[in-house]
Amino acid sequence: MAQESGKSTVTGGYKTIVYVICGVAALGGLLFGLDQGFIANSLETLTQHYQFGVEGGESYSAILATGGIFGALLSGIFARFLGRKRSLVLAGFIFTGASALSAMLPPLPLLSACRFALGFAVGIASFTVPLYLSETAPAAIRGSMGTLFQLMITIGIFVIALSNAFVARAFVNPATSLPIMFLTVTLFASLMFAGSFILPESPRWLMLKGRREKAVQVLRRTLNSQEEIDAEIGEIEEALHGPQGAGVRIVFRGYFFKVLLVGVLLQMFQQLVGINMMIYYSPTIFGYAGMKGLLAMMTVPTVNMLFTFPAIHLVEKWGRKKLLYVGAVAMLVTMLAAGFAFQSIGDVSDPSLIGGAPKTLLLISVIVYIFGFAVSWGPVVWLVCSEIFPLEGREVGMTITTMINWTFAGLVMANALSFMSAYGNASIFYVFAGFCVLAIVFVALFVPETKGITLEELEFNLKKGVRLRDLGRRG
Ligand code: BGC
Repeated sequence: MAQESGKSTVTGGYKTIVYVICGVAALGGLLFGLDQGFIANSLETLTQHYQFGVEGGESYSAILATGGIFGALLSGIFARFLGRKRSLVLAGFIFTGASALSAMLPPLPLLSACRFALGFAVGIASFTVPLYLSETAPAAIRGSMGTLFQLMITIGIFVIALSNAFVARAFVNPATSLPIMFLTVTLFASLMFAGSFILPESPRWLMLKGRREKAVQVLRRTLNSQEEIDAEIGEIEEALHGPQGAGVRIVFRGYFFKVLLVGVLLQMFQQLVGINMMIYYSPTIFGYAGMKGLLAMMTVPTVNMLFTFPAIHLVEKWGRKKLLYVGAVAMLVTMLAAGFAFQSIGDVSDPSLIGGAPKTLLLISVIVYIFGFAVSWGPVVWLVCSEIFPLEGREVGMTITTMINWTFAGLVMANALSFMSAYGNASIFYVFAGFCVLAIVFVALFVPETKGITLEELEFNLKKGVRLRDLGRRG
């Protein structure tokens, strides 16, 4: 039932502004996905218009990741000095401007600069959105908001794959279809840009800047009662008296360095198991195996999105480590199977000559592989990275691990196809399989189970010198 409270309407427990906050933040995740997934079903159209070959396509894809590294690097500074809200406005502005400019089909260097800028905005969003949410959304929905972000990434990848596939079919001329593809991204970007203006600033940031009155005003808009407001202000004040952001020198403290390594390796493996190669190039891979059409274009994004839903529930039921094992084993087996399928296909250049068995094996392998990633390494890695760092080093830890994610995403995107043409189509799948094995060993030896333990307990164990894989055990 709706009731009036303060200036906002309360619907089903939360005020309208809370939904606006979640919606705008969700758009941040969506744009991550739209830009990350843009290439998959537009590569052919882009190639027709800009005439770039395998290498040109690779570097155009990879430049997003380079932008992401810089965006993530600077986002900590933006978030601290400009504030969370203004950082989101900035990201929305860059998303809108760079995609609108791309829609004008500028010369290739400018188009690439736009993709760098989009990556920069994705880098800012991937740091600022989860931070803003955890500071502003009411406590009861903070956890689910964290997973909502990853879900929105996969929805973004799905939406852009679908709309690009349709646009490419409806308009054969790339001079018409490409602008429409970019304008689809511009549409969502401008929604985020406009939406971020009506967001309230994060009360925690306001308190950090000594603007208590303003923080109380914001909390009045988001919370329902004076008690809730007092409790929240009390909590923030307590946190502000505790250890503050320690600066980058914290990486030299032994206990911090240990968890930093866990986060860095988790993000590294998340990319080295090959997910973005499978997402970006799945239509091409299916094409090699003789499969074309909408099914080839949409299978991967659809499976990726659908299997992120069960992860939200399983991550609390089974725990993080079990999911990481299940995912890595599924990816290992399927990468070996895909490698085997490609090996048996050999150098056949005419897909119609390829037998039914390798085609079926390839199709099943790719689908099960994506399932394995979506249900585990996709959401779990981001989640664990937001949990393992002690409060005073959380910003530094998350900035570094986010940069590692983008660095390795870029490395895979920039080299995977050339690697395939140099060493044969099967080779890259065996390499990814090898990384799955290393990832399993790493999880077994070093990753703590963080399910069902408070962040404070984790931090206490860490500083007490408990070994990494036992950090999640309660004292
Ligand atoms: C990864 C991205 C990937 C996406 C796929 C994210 O967790 O960081 O690189 O494209 O999942 O869903």
